[in-house]
Amino acid sequence: FQGTLTSKLKEQFDAGLLAGQALHADFTMAQPLARYTQADHEIWRALYDQQAAMLPGRACDTFLQGLETLGMARDHVPDFAELNERLMRATGWQVVAVPGLVPDEVFFDHLANRRFPASWWMRTPAQMDYLQEPDCFHDVFGHVPMLINPVFADYMQAYGRGGLKAQKLGALDMLARLYWYTVEFGLIRTHAGLRIYGAGIVSSKSESIYALDDARPNRLGFDLRRIMRTHYRIDTFQKTYFVIDSFDQLFDATRPDFTPLYAELRDQREFAAEAIEDGDRVLHQGTGQEPALS
Ligand code: PHE
Ligand code: FE
Repeated sequence: FQGTLTSKLKEQFDAGLLAGQALHADFTMAQPLARYTQADHEIWRALYDQQAAMLPGRACDTFLQGLETLGMARDHVPDFAELNERLMRATGWQVVAVPGLVPDEVFFDHLANRRFPASWWMRTPAQMDYLQEPDCFHDVFGHVPMLINPVFADYMQAYGRGGLKAQKLGALDMLARLYWYTVEFGLIRTHAGLRIYGAGIVSSKSESIYALDDARPNRLGFDLRRIMRTHYRIDTFQKTYFVIDSFDQLFDATRPDFTPLYAELRDQREFAAEAIEDGDRVLHQGTGQEPALS
């Protein structure tokens, strides 16, 4: 998720990775295709194969269809320009390369203009299943396939606009929880069973199993107010997943102006990540046991 500008930019600059590379005011840059090493391509392929093998029957149809429709490269880091040809045709979205996390208002402005900022760099072999900042695999494999769904594509754009507004209202903490519990860690109920649509889950092998099948986390029906009051964990798997019934449900629930909602929720108490509260639609009550992060 997008916090403040991190050390990534400085790190890449110091390593000479950005030499001769223009960084635009909106933090985008040309995807430096020549900088990818053989090791980068191999990590992409290993992660792609690992996830592609396990996601059928776990990821939602939109996600699996998205990989196909976009013709996402399997054996090398995708060229964003090639992805964009198909993505543009599908929903008018684009992927743009950035050095890493960008400032909130820059991130929101990209989304509001149907541009998804993706980190261009690839993780190292030591970070195969967990990393603290989004890399190219998380951003491109995890987020981009969902953008072929017209409703989800509109939701992401609306989120960007809502972000700019929430920032002015001092409500980013509440809005960030919505992104976290939907775009990053969302589950969806289908007739075939529970499925994943959150990018943070589909890009991780162990969380793809944990989120759907493990007894430890809670799984609760989607509830906008509940989500906006709920803390989340960034250091481990989620304690609670929220389950939508459809992307229309998600989009419709978030359509109203949030201004009065922020004012109302501001005075209410917040919930711990693992809490179960009165009024929750409990699909599964977690055991609350700590997951062992491998
Ligand atoms: N309706 C929200 C608002 O008024 C904007 C929004 C839409 C936020 C979709 C998130 C997701 O702020
Ligand atoms: Fe992400």
